[in-house]
Amino acid sequence: MQTWDAITSRRNVRSFSDRPISREHLDQILEAGRRAPSSQNTQPWGFVVVTDRAQLRDLSTVWVGAKHVSSSAATIALVISDDPEPGRRVQFDLGQATMIMMIAAADLGIGSGHAGVGDQAAANRLLGLPAGRTCSFLIALGYPSGRPLAPISKPDRKPFDEVVHWGTW
Ligand SMILES: Cc1cc2nc3c(=O)[nH]c(=O)nc-3n(C[C@H](O)[C@H](O)[C@H](O)COP(=O)(O)O)c2cc1C
Repeated sequence: MQTWDAITSRRNVRSFSDRPISREHLDQILEAGRRAPSSQNTQPWGFVVVTDRAQLRDLSTVWVGAKHVSSSAATIALVISDDPEPGRRVQFDLGQATMIMMIAAADLGIGSGHAGVGDQAAANRLLGLPAGRTCSFLIALGYPSGRPLAPISKPDRKPFDEVVHWGTW
């Protein structure tokens, strides 16, 4: 795909086919995340990749909005220090890593879906995190079970002119 096609094709996919994602493609998505920019290049993240079906099922229970993790081919857990330095833009940094991995996935025809974490203790335990680390967010990945990714001409978004202001608000 061209970059613009990947951007306009990305949407939250919450229903995945049984098709696995190759290690090469998973590595490419993760490499995109590794290259993401962060405040003062602190790279406050670690990525735990889960592909085991039983572990994915367990992980899908950590949040009411994480059910799609269960049928994903792989889920990337974004892990941060549970005591980030004050003033650091850790959540902003995670957003950058998330988006670039989602675009890299879309470029390969792979769907992605955000999932938050509600039961923090369960997520940390399932991922085997050491003390001082916590799972902030999950990105479920897989080939869409329904329609494949394709550019969306009319996205469910506010109108361009309502969002964009030139020069002054
Ligand atoms: C910070 C953040 C948290 C989100 N958490 C969840 C979630 O827990 N479960 C879920 O199904 N979708 C989640 N989403 C996906 C949004 O609902 C989705 O991006 C939005 O409705 C726009 O849809 P689209 O991504 O298909 O364009 C989250 C998105 C963001 C940016």
